[in-house]
Amino acid sequence: MDIVTPDPARLAPAGSQRVSRRVSRRGTVEPFHVMEVLKAAAARAASHGDVVSLCAGQPSTPAPRVALDAVQRALRTEVLGYTEAVGTLGIRRAIAEHYDRSYGLTVDPDAVAVTTGSSAAFTALFLAAFELGDTVAMSRPGYPAYRNTLTALGCRVLELDCGLQERYQPTVAMLDALPEPPAGLILASPANPTGTIIESTELEAISRWCEAHGTLLVSDEIYHGISYGRPCASAWETSREAVVVGSLSKFWSMTGWRVGWLLLPEALRRPVELLVGNLNICPPAVSQVAGIAALSPAARPELEAHVERYAVNRDLLLERLPEIGVARMAPPDGAFYLYCDVSHLTDDSTRWCREVLDATGVAVTPGVDFAPAVPGGDPTLDGRAFMRLCFAGTTQDVATAMDRLAAFG
Ligand SMILES: Cc1ncc(COP(=O)(O)O)c(C=O)c1O
Repeated sequence: MDIVTPDPARLAPAGSQRVSRRVSRRGTVEPFHVMEVLKAAAARAASHGDVVSLCAGQPSTPAPRVALDAVQRALRTEVLGYTEAVGTLGIRRAIAEHYDRSYGLTVDPDAVAVTTGSSAAFTALFLAAFELGDTVAMSRPGYPAYRNTLTALGCRVLELDCGLQERYQPTVAMLDALPEPPAGLILASPANPTGTIIESTELEAISRWCEAHGTLLVSDEIYHGISYGRPCASAWETSREAVVVGSLSKFWSMTGWRVGWLLLPEALRRPVELLVGNLNICPPAVSQVAGIAALSPAARPELEAHVERYAVNRDLLLERLPEIGVARMAPPDGAFYLYCDVSHLTDDSTRWCREVLDATGVAVTPGVDFAPAVPGGDPTLDGRAFMRLCFAGTTQDVATAMDRLAAFG
């Protein structure tokens, strides 16, 4: 197992040419490369009209019907002005009830902070919990915004190389091997880009390790609800010292509505409330109305039908990817991603994905966002040899994409 310490902040060095008086070093953070793919795919769609997108990490369906109905009513009858900084009591209660129904957990609505997507939750939490220079660990491959946001906020990111043999998830053994405990550890289960789920026993062991070592466990559970025959355990089932991150974006099919949340231990509640009040004032009022309805049991059948379709798409990809020689991958346990080793096809996945888009109209995401090359890092994890497929679209789109990829060779 290699522990990779990236260049302190992957930011331009002070005084470098890229930094002017008007741009701080924090502003030179890494791009989110998938946005470049989306841009290229939009240009291809405009010029050729033939794009099949397996790149954007989002459902292809609208918010549940009951949420849309609730919004239509609210538009006629409510002011929809600012709300409490951490969301209305109504949505915090709806989230607490969801934990009771789905996990048998009693959650105090005061422990819930509703945010503008989970992205805003991460910013507020990192500010509330970590000092400048604190070390926060995450997996490599992992979700790039953790690394880039932490870096911009002046934290040191410690990437734990997590290979196929660990199903791309950190272990207690990796934590034990660290020279000193980090201030924080971020887990994502199911994960982006791999869709792997951390075993509930390993999650429990990691949360105990974090408690014993004073490490704040941040459990990103935004893909819960989307899994294929395996349960998703919540960190709050074993440790109330952990922070749980949730979102309506994925299972609830509401990416653009921007509703996420934190379940917070007592000490972090007031700091997060003060921070989100200053940073965002409040999450969007109309989306909170939609969220209350989406969280109700009435929305479940529609949402579960989406998961059934993702399962069909997943199986189709697992069956057909060997046609293009893709064999090294961890079948995803959840989310809607497949992260595949394409080292037999390229050592520059950004260029290769661009060639695939130009030749076939199929948009896929290079692995560089999730596992940038780092000095001393495990070369077999280098994202330049990986691609991520998102299978949240229609089954027809997934089949068409595979036909075209097979013809491309
Ligand atoms: C693992 C993970 N966490 C957090 C987010 C942010 O999601 P949102 O801000 O829409 O809740 C994403 C988005 O793709 C993600 O994949």
